[in-house]
Amino acid sequence: MNYENILAETKDEILWITINRAAKLNALNKATLAELHDAVLNAQTNTLIGGVIISGSGEKAFVAGADISEFSSFNSAEGTMLAKEGQQNVFDLIANSTKPVIAAVNGFALGGGLELAMACHIRIASENAKLGLPEVTLGLIPGYGGTQRLTQLVGRGKALEMILTADMIDAAEAHQLGLINHLVTFEELLPTAEKLMRKILSRSPNAVSAAISAVNAALDSSKNGFEVEIEEFGKCFGTDDFKEGVAAFLEKRKANFKRN
Ligand code: COA
Repeated sequence: MNYENILAETKDEILWITINRAAKLNALNKATLAELHDAVLNAQTNTLIGGVIISGSGEKAFVAGADISEFSSFNSAEGTMLAKEGQQNVFDLIANSTKPVIAAVNGFALGGGLELAMACHIRIASENAKLGLPEVTLGLIPGYGGTQRLTQLVGRGKALEMILTADMIDAAEAHQLGLINHLVTFEELLPTAEKLMRKILSRSPNAVSAAISAVNAALDSSKNGFEVEIEEFGKCFGTDDFKEGVAAFLEKRKANFKRN
């Protein structure tokens, strides 16, 4: 697939995805979502890719939401499909990615932009970040998982306050709430994301995937997370990563995990 709305470049095991519609503050139109789907799906099976870092182009916005101009004439059925397909094809795909996905939030992360960041496994934001779910100003509610993931990350009271008021919060408040993992300067944003990703990439790829799956199960009411943990834990023992990790420890050397 040719990308026109995102940049996707793999450098030394990291797939850097940049949402590249700066003139529209990187708003997620249908084409952008399709490209994101394609890039993240391909990353799952590409052995040259260990993890994904998502950011927005320019200094002003990570993503300022779903593209409002595209759904302005939608009816209920079309709105339902918009949310359903978006959740399945992009937001859940990212959340359930077997490879780690880090959001580097460089400015506005509003509506679908904050939902995109929240679907990622880890969020790092620069000091100019502004985060919010302003959908009620449009007569809507968040539709790409925002009501669920914001509640999981900051608790019901703060999630309701943010969603009902539509207010944006700044990066410092988001950090204090645990909505972002790290708060850094704009210059340090991508280097910090890369440093964190490189550390994760030095660990067992199989164990990293297993951990994502077990942690995600904690938030999935259709699963018993403790059982998923037992299952994933047991599966680890049958992997080359386990043999290498334990051998490296016993031989007092650094583990050299293979990506396959
Ligand atoms: N969908 C479509 N276009 C969007 C957009 C969105 N979510 N967010 C911004 N844009 C477009 C603007 O329409 C404008 O395009 P134009 O230059 O062709 O008119 C361009 O991006 C720049 O945005 P602008 O509003 O002029 O920038 P600003 O600095 O004055 O305001 C925001 C920045 C983020 C406060 C404002 O763009 C905004 O409120 N965006 C919508 C946020 C939102 O409600 N998101 C949830 C959607 S469900």
